[in-house]
Amino acid sequence: MTIYEYQQEILRLKKEKDICILAHSYQAREITEVADFTGDSYQLSIQAKNASQKTVIMCGVRFMAETVKLLSPNKTVLLANATAGCPMAEQMDKELIETVKEQYPGYTVVAYINTTAELKTICDVCVTSSSAVKIVRNLPNKNILFIPDCNLGDYVAKQVPEKNLKLLQGGCPIHARVSSKDVKAARQAHPNAEVLVHPECTPEVLTLADFIGSTSAIMEYAKASDKSDFIIGTEISIAQHLSYQCPKKHFYTLSKNLICPNMKATSLIDVYHAVAGVGGEEILLDDETVKKARLCIDRMIKLG
Ligand code: 13P
Ligand code: SF4
Repeated sequence: MTIYEYQQEILRLKKEKDICILAHSYQAREITEVADFTGDSYQLSIQAKNASQKTVIMCGVRFMAETVKLLSPNKTVLLANATAGCPMAEQMDKELIETVKEQYPGYTVVAYINTTAELKTICDVCVTSSSAVKIVRNLPNKNILFIPDCNLGDYVAKQVPEKNLKLLQGGCPIHARVSSKDVKAARQAHPNAEVLVHPECTPEVLTLADFIGSTSAIMEYAKASDKSDFIIGTEISIAQHLSYQCPKKHFYTLSKNLICPNMKATSLIDVYHAVAGVGGEEILLDDETVKKARLCIDRMIKLG
């Protein structure tokens, strides 16, 4: 079967079986084309909450599928490829953060959504890259323990100087390896291009950028801009999607290392197997985890 034939079969099966397919913007184009919704982590959470279908297939990484399950515990939630984890989400576990919390009594624990459902059970509120500044600014407490991404945390701390943020040494290994040298080289190669970066990049890289935003914010900025050339400082797929959406503009990847193997783990065949009922991993969370972890996501949606 060709890619097109697989896509047609997926579209037919998901309609027949009342399935919703959610895809993070880092997914390949052949997957986003069959998805009911594609967006950044925050937008996916909203869609997960509102989807009317009985089954949801997440094309992304494990914490995203867990977030869907937290918001819709009565639905069947499948992670299209069971090996797709997020290394950042696995950096800090519940035991570690319980110990850290003891050292910072009275702090509000703000968890980037890239954390496990288990860890969320002991946190106060979740944030995503697009909602972190707004949510931290609106929290009543001045003292914040921000986990796990220190790059996003540093960015938030600078935007909200009135708050006292304690950061830990976690982060995205993909975005963290982009250097200021990469930015300088890309600017030299494309002198008329604007540099748009994700806040998971290091503070040195962010200082050199023209725009900082989530995956969706970067895409919206580039689409709305009068400029024609852009250097994209996030996973390589965003430059590719933008090239399809704005064929008259030029998009260059900030570094060829910006490839997330976990986000790339899901293939169209995985999605086909999941809709056909012979693939994917069903996400199962116990009632206690759902009850406690959901509070952080609900607060994020309320405040974001
Ligand atoms: P956003 O979807 O918030 O832009 O985050 C990107 C990311 O790394 C997700 O894992
Ligand atoms: Fe995790 Fe980084 Fe990959 Fe996003 S890009 S899934 S944060 S490793």
